[in-house]
Amino acid sequence: MASADDELNPFQFGRVLGSDSLVDREDEVAEVVRTIREGGKLFLIGPRRFGKTSILNTAAEQLTQKSAVVVQLDAESYPTLDLLVSALVALAAKHLTGEVKKVGTAIGHFFSRLRPELEFNPAENTWSARLGADTSRHDHATLLVEALNGFERLAQAQPERRPVGLIIDEFQKLIELGGSSAEGQIRAAIQTHKRSGYVFADSKTRILSAMVNDAARPFYRLGSVRFLGPVPRPDFHRFLTNRFIAGGFRLDSGAIEHLMNVAHDVPYNIQMLAHTCWTELRTQGTRRPLLSAAAIDQMLDRIVMRQDPFYTLLWNRLTAVQQKTLLALIRLDGRNLQSSKAIALVGKAPATIRKSVHLMIESGILREEETLNSMRVVFEDPFFERWITALIL
Ligand SMILES: Nc1ncnc2c1ncn2[C@@H]1O[C@H](COP(=O)(O)OP(=O)(O)O)[C@@H](O)[C@H]1O
Ligand SMILES: [Mg+2]
Repeated sequence: MASADDELNPFQFGRVLGSDSLVDREDEVAEVVRTIREGGKLFLIGPRRFGKTSILNTAAEQLTQKSAVVVQLDAESYPTLDLLVSALVALAAKHLTGEVKKVGTAIGHFFSRLRPELEFNPAENTWSARLGADTSRHDHATLLVEALNGFERLAQAQPERRPVGLIIDEFQKLIELGGSSAEGQIRAAIQTHKRSGYVFADSKTRILSAMVNDAARPFYRLGSVRFLGPVPRPDFHRFLTNRFIAGGFRLDSGAIEHLMNVAHDVPYNIQMLAHTCWTELRTQGTRRPLLSAAAIDQMLDRIVMRQDPFYTLLWNRLTAVQQKTLLALIRLDGRNLQSSKAIALVGKAPATIRKSVHLMIESGILREEETLNSMRVVFEDPFFERWITALIL
């Protein structure tokens, strides 16, 4: 339950961050804004929890303040393409100002092939849409192409200076929903669109990289590609220091570094740990609580224990080989997973270990981390690793 103190907490995670609480990322936000202003195309690729959605939200917020038409969708929120396309149409309607009836007519015109049935909810100032076209008879990808073409028609009908953009988060899910021909059909449609800008973000780093870097694939050279790395340490350090001090904390030297270390520099985990430190150390009664490495470790253990039911479930769902692979990975610090040592630890052949790692990357437990001259496999959630170390190892 969110208490009043929670609302005051300067460290937030798992909810939309406004532009005032985002550390760094000015370049990425600017690139998203520029892409949409110029009617360009951009792929934003980076691991989960690194701040992609926050960047997209901040950019969309800036653009909307300047009366741009920005439709932002998270492809993972929709179980079917039909529902995703309906949401796209409804959100587009929300941006068109004017009499309800006129907006409805305009939308019906832009997206005529989908025969959308629109309804306006005046209390919430929102629209809902249902597709009147017989979607079962449509090839899935065709439905998507009609929606994108409709969006471009809408864009062209706007005053010249008004930017129009479509932002799709977790883009790879859209390709899944659209079926095997979706990639080719999306490309064919949007490469002719000159007016609307497109920004596609995704966490499946490897799949997306293959999609945009392989000359044989439709998205090759379709737009620019931006890989999202961690937030630069000095910036996060400053952010954390300033906010803890403003909250009346005393900081041990090295405490902030320690906090970032145990969170493995993952922005989500940094914020979650900082949030807990802020709330719980303040309720311990001292007027000026001390943030020390020991206090941070204690708070971290509390978080890990609180998540125990979730982590237990996650762990029990893994196969024995996957569990052993994770244990080996922790022992080997994510490196040399094909070595004889790894083989001995897991008790399986290299190909089996590889497959096991691959499946856990697919399901969002692990991710690959490329450094200058090596490849490591790390946990997407570093606190899950902590749980395994504390309870299993
Ligand atoms: N630049 C940032 N500055 C501060 N916190 C951030 C930043 N990026 C991400 N975070 C933290 O991580 C959380 C998850 O970010 P999110 O944008 O949802 O990541 P993604 O979409 O890549 O999974 C945010 O709610 C916030 O707590
Ligand atoms: Mg996201």
